Amino acid sequence: MKKAATLVEYGVEIDARTMIEPPDPTKLELEPGHPGELDVAYVQRRKALFVQCRQQRLAGHEPPLFAYNAEETRIWQDVSSKLHALHDLHACAIYLQGKGALGISENEIPQLQTISRQLKIANNMHLVPAEGPIAYRTFYSYIAKRGFPVTQFIRHGSHPEFTPEPDMIHDCLGHVPALMNPDYAEVLTLIARAANATPDPRQVLALKRFSWFSIEFGLIEEADSVKVFGAGILSSTGEIPFALYSSKVIRRPFVTDEVIATDYDPSRMQDHLFVIPSLPFLRSEIESLVRRFGIGVV
Ligand SMILES: [Fe+2]
Repeated sequence: MKKAATLVEYGVEIDARTMIEPPDPTKLELEPGHPGELDVAYVQRRKALFVQCRQQRLAGHEPPLFAYNAEETRIWQDVSSKLHALHDLHACAIYLQGKGALGISENEIPQLQTISRQLKIANNMHLVPAEGPIAYRTFYSYIAKRGFPVTQFIRHGSHPEFTPEPDMIHDCLGHVPALMNPDYAEVLTLIARAANATPDPRQVLALKRFSWFSIEFGLIEEADSVKVFGAGILSSTGEIPFALYSSKVIRRPFVTDEVIATDYDPSRMQDHLFVIPSLPFLRSEIESLVRRFGIGVV
């Protein structure tokens, strides 16, 4: 087969084919230097959860019920209580409303199966069990059908405020609350339907960047202040103050053509952010972009 053209992502050239034919890891892979890589019990737990969640995902089942252990509960309580205090001050209204409605507790790790059923009733969204990071286009193939893939493992306890890959704290305390909002769900699922439908790897990359700088790392204007919108910021006790107050961060208005032309490095603190004027603005922008790309899903 003829080699596809290259695109630049994370500062390096990638094979464009990976954007439209994503790989599907079939076993647990912890990146070198992962905080839990030498902890035999942790790796065993992660492997077991990987197998169980992958089977559930591929079978089309809802998230399984889990008995979380004392260490996992300790980490959840530690991180979620710190995040809760920061959210009260800095999270956008959409997020706070969703978190309150779902009743996510600082004391007890929620069962994703229960949350999935709440989302289904409230907003026709649901959760899909994920064994770990899922390739972008595969991830969006689920969201296109209003299913949000979520991990069920908890980060390693040696660094409770850090995880090299999205874990349940990132997914459940970053992404899930906003799924309760109908307009947010429309933005998210439109990105997904477009990314899933287009055969053009450059368009997939553009949609991925649109999502990164809004769904993952967006800031949003509210009244006279800037609030946190993106899950990557909302799920990190370090990123919230850094994103809002650090002099090392460039914050610019959300201009779609600039956003889709901007590369990023997901492995470090984000020092280049865009401020969304409002959720209706974001919805209008993604609808315009998808129409401009000629993807027939709007
Ligand atoms: Fe995320």
